[in-house]
Amino acid sequence: MEKPTLRQRTHDCNGLREEHIGEGALLMGWVAGIRDWGGALFLDLRDRYGITQVVFDASRDKELLDRVSSLRSEDVVAVTGAVSKRLKANDKIDTGAVEVLAEDLYVFSRSEVPPFPVRDETNAGTEIRLKYRYLDLRRPVMQRTLVTRGKIAHFVRNILFDESFLEIETPFMVKYTPGGARNFMVPSRLQPGMVYALAESPQIYKQLLMVGGYDRYYQLAKCFRDEDPRLDRQLEFTQIDLEMSFADDEDVMDTVERLFVRLWQNLGLSFTEATFPRLTWQEAMDRYGTDKPDMRFGLPHVILDDFARGSGIGILEDAVAQGRMVKGLVVPGRAAEFSRKILDELTATVRREEVGPAKGLIWLKVEGSGELKGPVAKLMSPEIQTALCDRLGMHDGDLLFIIADEPKITHKAMDFLRRDLAARLGLIGAGMFAPLWVVNFPMFERSEEGQWVSSHHPFTHPSPADLPLLNTPRQGEVKSLAYDLVINGNEVGGGSVRIHDPAIQAQVFTALGIGDEEAERLFGFLLEAFRYGVPPHAGFAAGLDRLVMIVTGTDSLRDVIAFPKTVSGTDAMTGAPTAPGAPQLKELGISLAPPQRSV
Ligand code: AMO
Repeated sequence: MEKPTLRQRTHDCNGLREEHIGEGALLMGWVAGIRDWGGALFLDLRDRYGITQVVFDASRDKELLDRVSSLRSEDVVAVTGAVSKRLKANDKIDTGAVEVLAEDLYVFSRSEVPPFPVRDETNAGTEIRLKYRYLDLRRPVMQRTLVTRGKIAHFVRNILFDESFLEIETPFMVKYTPGGARNFMVPSRLQPGMVYALAESPQIYKQLLMVGGYDRYYQLAKCFRDEDPRLDRQLEFTQIDLEMSFADDEDVMDTVERLFVRLWQNLGLSFTEATFPRLTWQEAMDRYGTDKPDMRFGLPHVILDDFARGSGIGILEDAVAQGRMVKGLVVPGRAAEFSRKILDELTATVRREEVGPAKGLIWLKVEGSGELKGPVAKLMSPEIQTALCDRLGMHDGDLLFIIADEPKITHKAMDFLRRDLAARLGLIGAGMFAPLWVVNFPMFERSEEGQWVSSHHPFTHPSPADLPLLNTPRQGEVKSLAYDLVINGNEVGGGSVRIHDPAIQAQVFTALGIGDEEAERLFGFLLEAFRYGVPPHAGFAAGLDRLVMIVTGTDSLRDVIAFPKTVSGTDAMTGAPTAPGAPQLKELGISLAPPQRSV
C-alpha cells in the first residue's frame, strides 16, 4: 500500500461497530500488542479514541504475515481490511464486537523498545514516566484525563461566553511587586539590569480591564509562582480567572455557582447539594479545623472548652486555664470497630509533626446509658459523664475523641483525624462532589516576622462593618469580602470584592505598613487608573488543574498537566532549568560567574 494520509482513514480506533460488518476500513495507530495464535496474528491497534483488533490470517497472504511478524509494540502503522464479526465478543472495549481482517499494511515508523509498557497499570516510577512523558501520555488513563481537561476548558468557555463574558489575554511579563507569591524574574536584554516578573495571576490587569470598561472579563490564564511544588501545587498552573463590574460578592458567587453547576451537568456529573452551602471562615475553623472542609461526610468538631473547665480531668482543666483549645469529635455507633491497637495508632498519628504535633489524644467509649470507658473515664464523676453524653447527644456504641492543645494544633490535628476517620470508616461515597462556599475570611494575618500581611491581597475589600477597626489594636478582627469555593476538601478557587474607594485603599495600605510613597511606587499605575472613573468590581479565580484533579479523582496535579515539573522544579524530559551560556548572560548584562581571584 502507498503511504496513506488522514483523508483516507475511514475510522479512528474506536469507530467500528457491528453495523460496519462487511465494509472496508482503513485505520491508523500504534501497535498496542501482537499475539501469535499459530496460523493467525492478532494485532491491537490503538489511538486516543480506543483499540481495534486486526487479524492477519497466515493462509491468506504469507508476505503480509512476514511483515506483520516483524512489528513491535509502539510501531506506527496503517491497515486496511474488511470489518467482520468477532467470534467471541470482548465487552471490555467499545469495538469488541468486531475485528478487521487485514488486507494490507503500511508502516509509518518503528519504535525502539519503550522504557515501560504503554498501558494503564504501570509500576514505572514518576521520574521515568516524566522523562518519557510522550509515552506516558499515550497511556489510555492519561489520554482520558487530558480529554476531560480539554472538555472542561471548552465547556467553561462556552458557559462564560453565554453569560456575556469576554476572553481577554493579559501579559505574562509584568512589573515586579512584592507581597503575594514569590515571583520568577525575566531579565531584559533591551534594558540591561532590569527585570520583568512572570505574572502570579492577572489580578491587577483584570482590575484595569474593569476601568477600561470590559464589564465581564475572563481568561484561562497561565500563572507562575516560585513556590515549592507539592501534590496540589505547581510552578506554572492555569486559572479560570474572571472579574465583573458593578458586582458585589453575591453577584460573583451566583455567577460562579451557575458556571460550576452547568459545567458539572455538561460533564454528566452532579453536586450533592442543589445550592452550594456556606460557612463563615470562623464556623469552618470551629467545626472542621480548616478553611477547606470536606463536606462529603459529617464528623464535625465540637469545642469543649466549657466542659473541660469543670470536667475533673486535670489535663483538660489545665489546658483551658492556659488558653489552649479543647475539641471533641463523636464517631456515632462504631466504637466497637476501634480496638486498643487502633486507638494507640491514632494517638501516635496525632503526635506526628506533620499532623499536629498534638500532645495526645483522649478517647472515650459510651457503654449502656451514658457510662464512659477509656483511660480518663475514672477521673470523671458519673454526673459529669452523663452531662457530657447529653451535651454531645451520645449513646451506647459511640466513640468520642478529644484533643486539647494550642488552638492551631488542635484545629490541625482534629482536621487530620476527621479525614482519617472518614476514610477508615468508608464514609466517602464514590462519585460524590460536595461544594461549599467559605466566606468572611480574616482580612489580615501575621507574617512569620510578626508583620500584618493581607490574607488575600491588598485590594480586597474589608467587610464594611469592620472598617472602623482598621488601624486600631483590634485590626486582627477585621474580616474581608473574600470567598473561597471548596469541593471535596480542596480549595478550588477564591476571590473577593475589590476596593475602589481611594480613601479605603489608603487605610488598608496604612494597615499593612505600606506608606504613601511606597504605595505610589508599587501600585501608582493602578491608583492613578482609579482616579479616572472606576466601577465597583469583584472577581474570582479557580485553579483549572485542581478542578480536573477533582473531576478525574486523582490526587496529584502531575496527573492532569501534560508536561508538569517535578518537586525540584525540573522538566524531567528537557532537563530545564539549564545553565545559560556566557554569551547569553553577557547579552542580558548578567554576571553569574564566581568572582575572579586577582593574582
Ligand atoms: P489564589 O491565589 O487564591 O487567587 O488562586 C486561585 C486558585 O488558583 C489555584 N492555585 C494553584 N493551583 C496549582 N498550583 C498552584 N501553585 C496554585 N496556586 C493557586 C487554586 C486557587 O484557589 N487573583 C486571585 C483571585 C481573585 O481574587 O480573583 C488569585 O490568584 O485553586
